Amino acid sequence: MTKAENHILVIFGASGDLTYRKLVPALFDLFAQNLLPESSAILGVSRTNMSDDAFREKMKKGILAFANFGEEYKDRTDQFLTKVFYQVLNTFEAKDYTKLKDRLELIDDEIGNHGNYLYYLSTPPSLYKIIPENLAYHKLNNQGKSIGWKRIIIEKPFGYDLQSSKALNKDLLNFFKEDQLYRIDHYLGKETVQNLLVTRFANGIFEPLWNRNFVHHVEITTAESIGVEGRGGYYDGSGALRDMVQNHLLQVAALVAMEPPTTIDALSIRNETLKVFQSLRPLNAHDVQHHVIRGQYTAAKVRGKHMAGYREEDGVNPNSRTETYVAMKYFIDNWRWGGVPFYIRTGKFLPTRVSEIVIHFKPTPHALFVDNKDFCNNGNQLVIRIQPDEGILFKFGMKVPGSGFEVKNVNMDFHYSDLQQTYLPSAYERLLLDAMLGDATLYARGDTVEKAWEFVQPVLDYWANDQTANLYGYPAGSWGPDVADQLIEEPEITWRYPCKNLAEDGIYCEL
Ligand code: BG6
Repeated sequence: MTKAENHILVIFGASGDLTYRKLVPALFDLFAQNLLPESSAILGVSRTNMSDDAFREKMKKGILAFANFGEEYKDRTDQFLTKVFYQVLNTFEAKDYTKLKDRLELIDDEIGNHGNYLYYLSTPPSLYKIIPENLAYHKLNNQGKSIGWKRIIIEKPFGYDLQSSKALNKDLLNFFKEDQLYRIDHYLGKETVQNLLVTRFANGIFEPLWNRNFVHHVEITTAESIGVEGRGGYYDGSGALRDMVQNHLLQVAALVAMEPPTTIDALSIRNETLKVFQSLRPLNAHDVQHHVIRGQYTAAKVRGKHMAGYREEDGVNPNSRTETYVAMKYFIDNWRWGGVPFYIRTGKFLPTRVSEIVIHFKPTPHALFVDNKDFCNNGNQLVIRIQPDEGILFKFGMKVPGSGFEVKNVNMDFHYSDLQQTYLPSAYERLLLDAMLGDATLYARGDTVEKAWEFVQPVLDYWANDQTANLYGYPAGSWGPDVADQLIEEPEITWRYPCKNLAEDGIYCEL
């Protein structure tokens, strides 16, 4: 495997949760697999006053708690932590960036790096302009053969709506070039999401069927079994459409829908993603009213335990109209997908944690075995399970042995866990490594991000401007508002429900 060049990874917002729970544990996992370059360093940066040692101590706890190899390679944590440093910085203080520059040069000398810096903005989005601006002012954005490369990873949200995402892109492009920008969408780092490309483009059998002639509809679900978990303050200003649909779900759907790229590289894949987004049928007022369902979880009893409703969560406005659930139907108006509905849904506090894509194939043109109540009439399904229990499931009809022609739905099922000695890297491992290698294939490009915002903007506008727009309550632990079933207008077809409702009580209501 290609190793990245020596570099320093500079994490802004290093005292936060993401660094502790995800980034440093992922870096440790890369280290444990010998995937970090010999001479690399990690410099945590934030406002909190902390020594190198105090930061290392905190990161050690994070590694032991969250790294996949934390337990197995416990004795290597100290060796890893010699690569970790910390620098106090007030993002608004120009002189602090001078100190940062000096520190980077010092570490460069120590480890033999030649100015290769990978920045990671794990900060509130309000700092997405000021940090790049200051880095540029201190010439920490320039790149070249003699001064090393500079790359910058940005965490979502990339804007709050179309206008702010355009403004953000404009700001970033004032200080960095597009090929230095790495907009992270951690869903693209999931192994099973990447496997979509292999399923589609490395297998002769699927691609000929992957179009309007054979596919009846496509369903994508990302369900979470937890609520907002202490993130109420952030979430209440965001909601499921901004938090999950605009980015993760639309990006995954683009991989399902895209044309075969010419090559597997950043340019081709991102060009094909853009073409999908350009083909999304714009949502008009009728579509927003009838094809987009929003919900908010309400209090309910789950497995005998009382679960608080969203409006009772810390940091949430008690009259909040923020959605914790979205289901929608949309179309991609192009040659391949003309007329095929895409149904996507996501929600907090649903009965289970599952993310899956279901390709529903068209039924046979003539039903020969009509008396089979047990055999789903909605034909064959290919279920791509993103998480958990990663794998692929193909459903089809089989004759039940014996007289007559009783048909039963059976499964061909592949689980990644069946592959002995196969390690599924976390999304952050994969994405951090790619950025170190300079491969932006799995990162979102500015124009695709804007296009995705353009698509959801009519929904945001409608909800913001019409306080009477429907918002449905659904009991925590249930599969969301019942009305979501009506999105799928054909009587015999429903969403796939990978497990049953857990809510023992609670009411489905209009809020
Ligand atoms: C994040 C959202 O981007 O994705 C969270 O901000 C959500 O609200 C999370 O919980 C889900 O990610 P995963 O990988 O657990 O499915």
